[in-house]
Amino acid sequence: MCGISAIASHKPVAAKLLTALQNLEYRGYDSCGMALLHEGQLSLRKNVGAVDEVDALEKFRKMEGSLGIAHTRWATHGGVTKENSHPHYSNDKKFVIVHNGILSNYQQIQRDLKSKGYRFLSETDTEVFSNLVQEEYKQAENVETAFCNAIDKLQGSYAIAMITTHQPDTIFAVKKDSPLVLGINDGVNYVSSDINAFIAETRDTIILDDMEYLLVKNDNYVIKNLLTRKEKSKQVITVQWDRQTAQMGGFSHYMLKEIFDQPQTVRNALHVPNEQIQTIAGKFIEKEQSFCVGVGTTYYVAMVGTYLFSKYANLYVPSISADEFPTLIPVNKDNHVLFFSQSGETYDTRMAIRKARNCGAATSAVVNVVGSSISQEVDDCIFQGSGPEICVVSTKAAVSQIIILWRIALEVGVLRNHLSRKDADAFQGRFFKFSETIGQVLNEESGFIRDLASKTSRVRNWLFMGKGIYYPIALESALKMKEVTYLHAEGLPAGFLKHGTLAMVDEEMYSLFFLPYKDDSDLYNSTLMSIEEVKARNGKVVAFCAEDDDEIKKLLDFGLIIPKTDPELTPLIQLIMAQLFSYYSALNLGLNIDKPRNLAKSVTVG
Ligand code: AGP
Repeated sequence: MCGISAIASHKPVAAKLLTALQNLEYRGYDSCGMALLHEGQLSLRKNVGAVDEVDALEKFRKMEGSLGIAHTRWATHGGVTKENSHPHYSNDKKFVIVHNGILSNYQQIQRDLKSKGYRFLSETDTEVFSNLVQEEYKQAENVETAFCNAIDKLQGSYAIAMITTHQPDTIFAVKKDSPLVLGINDGVNYVSSDINAFIAETRDTIILDDMEYLLVKNDNYVIKNLLTRKEKSKQVITVQWDRQTAQMGGFSHYMLKEIFDQPQTVRNALHVPNEQIQTIAGKFIEKEQSFCVGVGTTYYVAMVGTYLFSKYANLYVPSISADEFPTLIPVNKDNHVLFFSQSGETYDTRMAIRKARNCGAATSAVVNVVGSSISQEVDDCIFQGSGPEICVVSTKAAVSQIIILWRIALEVGVLRNHLSRKDADAFQGRFFKFSETIGQVLNEESGFIRDLASKTSRVRNWLFMGKGIYYPIALESALKMKEVTYLHAEGLPAGFLKHGTLAMVDEEMYSLFFLPYKDDSDLYNSTLMSIEEVKARNGKVVAFCAEDDDEIKKLLDFGLIIPKTDPELTPLIQLIMAQLFSYYSALNLGLNIDKPRNLAKSVTVG
């Protein structure tokens, strides 16, 4: 998975391409590069490392030219080396390309080209394309025809941008199964994997569909259909995200900023039009069986859904991890599958969608990134409007998805006559109040949570436990802890503890319990029993607890005080507090919080 960008301007573009790379870095950050065209000549600089590291070595800003392409990489085919990083020249150095995606038939193409004398300098699938265009150009003697003929030979997924000395005023770009957008401004046009790359320059954008290609100059652009090669006109969308939203806004890390964005992103989730909620809710009624599907954090979002549908709609909706869905679930036309994805590009989720669609099931999704692949692949899509989530670790997007899911569950409850319309509507008011509570919690509790993180900074093993809806909350919180601190944090149902994991508990083991208010007596009492089990083995216990719960406070090594708030929404407050706990724990360890090791923001490989 990678980020691509290209700019056609009447002024030098190197500095703007560098900014685009920095804005796209969340898509991959193991190497990057840039190629520019100046006075009929191509130049290329690339290297291994994060964008700023490579810039320090390669001095991107010194490159000349008003037409250029750039790429930030997360290795899939071939290791993290300078040769494998993009852009890639053709053998004659007259074409240069950047690519995001996977060319599944590259070995075959490479064999053919090798037999014609072409040499390959990298281990990538991408390099075949620049040489394929060179080869096609021999016959066509026209760049557009050569570009299209070469694309016709590709299998797999791709967003590609290319520049060439044969037509030095034009960017050629194409999209299939990988995102690509066009940004439009006066005298300068942008092509990129994500609107965020050029958000500081323009908000006017066109989202490309699969099998469309672009010819972009500084003062005009043409969109064509790859099959017919005929021009088509497309709607220009003005995106609402602004530069400030996309920047860190004074916070030390994007993760912290995005945790603090949540009062607003919850409000945005509440502003998703009712008709969109109703359309998806209707599917739960029309179809015999529905499923909720996501992967990683979004699987835990889906799991929360299972509890919400049970409670508010008296309906069992299984949640399945997207990576298991294709082999596990025998779907058919009487089924409906609701998918969750922040990026809208996740390979496992896309494969699950493909399976559901192929079997005739209805599909819907809650997605954050407008124009992303998943949003285009499902029958119905809700855009959650959380704004760009830059930190690799998902926080605000997950909470917003849960709010939207909650609204869908309430609507399904009404449609199934399990809930009155009045009660469901009353919930809407509680949600708006809840967004204020989140702001209050973030401002008032951060200091205490930070304190706890430093007191527990030597702890290496955690068990995170909860019952009922607090169970998926514990799972998601443990994932957050693992992702940013690299510590062992195992999420499990509190009641499960005595069936095995208790064997691990001794004075070195720390447990974090997601304990509800006392009023939620069944869940409270059974979670309390698990706390007692840990204490009896000298294990250390941290738990969320109410200020006035003196009895529990005596049992705990540390308490995380939850302010008195809506009891039904308390699981979400605990989730947000756990996000902060992970953040401050990682801060104490001095780790790369926004880009944890071994992870990338959108996982587009299987
Ligand atoms: C979240 O913190 C993780 N980085 C990861 O589990 C993520 O949620 C998962 O890869 C799914 O991504 P998506 O929401 O973009 O589909």
